[in-house]
Amino acid sequence: MSMLIIWASPNQDGLTAKCKQAAVDGILEYGMECSEVHLNRLNIGRCQVCGKGFGLCSTQGTCVMDDDFNRLYALMKRSDAIVLVTPVYWHDMAEPMKALLDRVRRCATKAERGMEGKKILLVACAGGTGNGVVECLQSMEIVMKHMHANVRDRLPVTRFSADYMPRAIRSAAWHLCYELTEDRKGQEEDHG
Ligand SMILES: Cc1cc2nc3c(=O)[nH]c(=O)nc-3n(C[C@H](O)[C@H](O)[C@H](O)COP(=O)(O)O)c2cc1C
Repeated sequence: MSMLIIWASPNQDGLTAKCKQAAVDGILEYGMECSEVHLNRLNIGRCQVCGKGFGLCSTQGTCVMDDDFNRLYALMKRSDAIVLVTPVYWHDMAEPMKALLDRVRRCATKAERGMEGKKILLVACAGGTGNGVVECLQSMEIVMKHMHANVRDRLPVTRFSADYMPRAIRSAAWHLCYELTEDRKGQEEDHG
């Protein structure tokens, strides 16, 4: 089984990176395989709204754009669970996360339901006033709902909670691994 962490921040040592690392630590503590994708290092452009509003995304579940998107979406589908970690910008996700989720949603709602039932943790890091952390989580949640993903928890982080929330994120990631293991055991018993 494998967990995927996708994070988006230009800062390698900021609040978002700290929260991402807490998720990595929880997964490694559990002993599960974990891949990290730093969106700011990838080339994932915004949806070009091809065709008359839908392109290949609606018929084939892939994107016509020649960038890093299709490979990442394939990795998301292969992963057993995904942790999404974003800074809060303008009460919303950071732009690289928004560009990714906009395109994933298009691919995962029409031709195929590539994210249906996928277990997800949402983490929003608001290092300014803390305003907008709930709206940011809400914005991510709406995309997850459209795709019928299974959001297991939503974790808001602010300057006030920056000391204690990484521990909660670590526990949440650990617990998600535990759930996946229990699910797998249940499936094996059903077939067994
Ligand atoms: C363009 C921009 C918009 C921001 N908007 C908000 C906001 O709405 N609410 C908030 O609490 N912080 C806001 N911030 C602050 C970031 O959430 C904060 O710097 C956060 O720690 C960024 O993550 P980082 O530590 O990984 O850089 C904003 C920062 C930027 C650059």
